[in-house]
Amino acid sequence: MKEKFYITTPIYYPSGKFHIGTAYCETLTDCIKRYKTLRGYETYMLTGLDEHGQKIQTLANKNNITPQEYVNDMAEKALKLWELMDIQYDNFIRTTDEKHYKAVQKIVQIFLEKGDIYKGTYEGWYCMPCENYFTETQLKDGKCPDCGREVKKMQEESYFFNMKKYEKWLKKFYQENPDFIVPESRKNEIFKNFIDPGLEDLCISRCTFDWGIQMPNDPKHVLYVWLDALTNYITALGYLSEDDTEFKKYWPADLHVVGKEIIRFHGIYWPIFLHALGLELPKKIYAHSWIVMKDGKMSKSVGNVIYPETLIERYGLDATKYYLLRLMNFAQDSMFTPEDFIERYNSDLANDLGNLLSRTIGMINKYFEGTIPTEITETTEYDKELQKTAQEQITKIEQEMDTYHISNAIQELWKYISRTNKYIDETQPWILSKNGETEKLKSVMNNLAESLRKIAILSSPYLVNSSKQILESLGIKKEDATWETLQTNNIKKGTQVTKQCEPLFKRLEKEEEIEYIKTKMKKS
Ligand code: MSP
Repeated sequence: MKEKFYITTPIYYPSGKFHIGTAYCETLTDCIKRYKTLRGYETYMLTGLDEHGQKIQTLANKNNITPQEYVNDMAEKALKLWELMDIQYDNFIRTTDEKHYKAVQKIVQIFLEKGDIYKGTYEGWYCMPCENYFTETQLKDGKCPDCGREVKKMQEESYFFNMKKYEKWLKKFYQENPDFIVPESRKNEIFKNFIDPGLEDLCISRCTFDWGIQMPNDPKHVLYVWLDALTNYITALGYLSEDDTEFKKYWPADLHVVGKEIIRFHGIYWPIFLHALGLELPKKIYAHSWIVMKDGKMSKSVGNVIYPETLIERYGLDATKYYLLRLMNFAQDSMFTPEDFIERYNSDLANDLGNLLSRTIGMINKYFEGTIPTEITETTEYDKELQKTAQEQITKIEQEMDTYHISNAIQELWKYISRTNKYIDETQPWILSKNGETEKLKSVMNNLAESLRKIAILSSPYLVNSSKQILESLGIKKEDATWETLQTNNIKKGTQVTKQCEPLFKRLEKEEEIEYIKTKMKKS
């Protein structure tokens, strides 16, 4: 039986159009899911929307529609974007789904009965956009430590979750599971800022607005978003609902992919909620960093927002996903610039990969009438070295992918692509042809086709369409391009490449395209 792999994205606030930051988070998760599927896992990817809260209510009021109408419209837009981006999610949860709503109320009931929830008065510094309270010491220069905006002192009757009760357990859990959060720096941050100073109980309800899940015992209170939001990972699978087959099959999650600013909720409150429910904890949380712009965070008022549609419509889906994944460092914020985007497109995709394919197809047509030679009688040192590089790079790529260092995996793949390009220069097939060294020429063409076959497999979690195009150009069937076939030479006798090969990526006019992206950013 296949081993399962349950992976989740955060559920996004539908408070505005999704920019490339959100698209990155989704692409990263989709890429890991695709990779795990290729490695033989039975995968399940969950994504969705976090639809409750004051901000949504305010936005709906502004638009003279109900919050439900507002989120319905936003959900449609989100689904359209994920379709455009070919995201292979298996389930899309909305926190307004009845199944979720009811299950969350049952969860709250359990907590009430266990005595984990109590009523009190909350006073703190509240950040409206983040829907989050902070203590005095947590503020940064008197402003929200997460988003840097103004905070307001507020006091209200609230329900609290008794976090302190679980503090000891949480510390012990981290001692026993030091790799629960990656990168480690993110774990250290939450220890320094929240666990070491002593856990504060968590305010979980509000009564100043009503767009939320009602407390089952006290309906004038609605849940303050994090208990509602975090539990999506289990309610989406049917936890505490009539049909919990998926929950039994897929829980615990193998990987929660989240942004660095929400690691505190996933690294402290989520484990405690689960423990209080007597449930297993997820296996791992990967807190990715942020895409930033030259002038800091993406923001409409600065006019530096870039939307995924802008890049996809002009440069294609593969180039967009490739760029985002290649850009993002595992542990540090990374900067998007139009210059870098166009440079990478031209050098990595059009030159390194695109040219390798068109040259190879051209030569196989020219020297062997389009048939990839498979009977090899003569090999050279160059051939052996290329094959050795292939094996080494495949191992490295697997290691990087297995630890979710996607940008590193891409860089390792590009070393292999560069090595293959160098191989053409070293072996000089045109000279071999001129000198009638047919046996050597056969070996070179076979090695080039083999490299491209492997490159197509290795890049398929993100270059989804291009990798198919590479295989089609080579005349290689899908079943001859599985991950397992990376270990062998697998091109079948008589394999015929296409006569002509459409360029994988057309070279771009640098200045013109940089200007194009900049104009789009200003208009955002
Ligand atoms: N609703 C909560 C998550 C609840 S999960 C139980 C939330 N939503 S969000 O829409 O504000 O953010 C969703 C995700 O988008 C976060 O993981 C966040 O890190 C990510 N990104 C938002 N801007 C980003 C960048 N500029 N770069 C990379 N990711 C960023 O938080």
